[in-house]
Amino acid sequence: MSTQTYSFPITKTTHSKLSYFDWDHLHFGKDFSDHMFLMEYKDGEWSQGEIVPFENISMHPAMSAIHYGQSIFEGMKAYRTTNDEILVFRPEMNAKRFADSATRMCMPPVDEELFVEAIRQLISLDEEWVTKRRGHSLYIRPFMFATDELIGIRPSETYKFMIITSPVGQYYSEPLNVKIETSYTRAANGGVGRAKAAGNYAASLYPGMLGKKEGFHQLIWTDARTNTYIEESGTMNIMFLMNDILITPDEDHDTILRGITKRSVIEVAKKWGIQVEERMITVKEIIEAAKNGTLQDAFGAGTAATIVPIAMIGHEGEEYVLPPVEDRILSKRIKTFLADIKTGRVADEFGWNLKV
Ligand SMILES: Cc1ncc(COP(=O)(O)O)c(C=O)c1O
Repeated sequence: MSTQTYSFPITKTTHSKLSYFDWDHLHFGKDFSDHMFLMEYKDGEWSQGEIVPFENISMHPAMSAIHYGQSIFEGMKAYRTTNDEILVFRPEMNAKRFADSATRMCMPPVDEELFVEAIRQLISLDEEWVTKRRGHSLYIRPFMFATDELIGIRPSETYKFMIITSPVGQYYSEPLNVKIETSYTRAANGGVGRAKAAGNYAASLYPGMLGKKEGFHQLIWTDARTNTYIEESGTMNIMFLMNDILITPDEDHDTILRGITKRSVIEVAKKWGIQVEERMITVKEIIEAAKNGTLQDAFGAGTAATIVPIAMIGHEGEEYVLPPVEDRILSKRIKTFLADIKTGRVADEFGWNLKV
């Protein structure tokens, strides 16, 4: 990381949406704040980044991201605390993951310090979009895509890096019914599963739609080669509590996204003296534990909802109902603790928050 000081030219909007914005009817990912960050790559270097009014971008019909999918993104949130500060949760981890995704997709990485500073300055300008309403936050979406105007498969020579933000409300999530997917796969060894690449999400839509038709909210992805190891749950990492041990798939394989929520859960649990195992997990052991009652908890971990309990696991036509959500003491405690850190209600003993 460089230690440069970044200052980005700002063009302010003359038509702020704040005066007529309907905070009572937020649509996740459909409403956007007044400004965005924009930086372009050409001739082997990134231009000066700038903050401009949120607006449409024009594109050439042959723009390579549309045709060949060189496109990556990130996701995190900013919260307003009871003391009127604005905090962003662990953005340097998103910066690192974004740089890793870029490298895997043959795209020019964005300096990690610049990435964080661009977020800080954009949110500082749009600070009124981060409200104190309980459960509200400002979702931050950095993304980069290839902009060469060329039908031809090769790494693009030009890119756009942008950051847009979207005010979001309380994330109500019902406990999930999930199906262990054994036909379709999210990621294969040597593939791009570890990268937050747009195409990974496109590829998951069809099996996800088939799962929904069967009544499942999400799929639990298994390894591509044998379909016998658990990997992730939908667009979240997956964690289990068995015999009071918190267990989650390890990250040694390049098929699993290195989730920041999961990492935070692990760090909190360890600090609280909970035994944690990051290792390969077989479908068989989860089904057996569900059958014999040693599976105390199973949940997804991700930025959108932090922790979402899994109520039922479907596998080979059978449905395994997990213990009542009210009894999931540890995951509930961690969820509350993380929400309290993010919103400044408890001291940030881990030093995770960036103050805007
Ligand atoms: C495939 C996938 N796995 C896991 C996660 C959870 O990652 P994080 O906790 O960083 O949001 C996400 C969401 O970003 C995801 O898209």
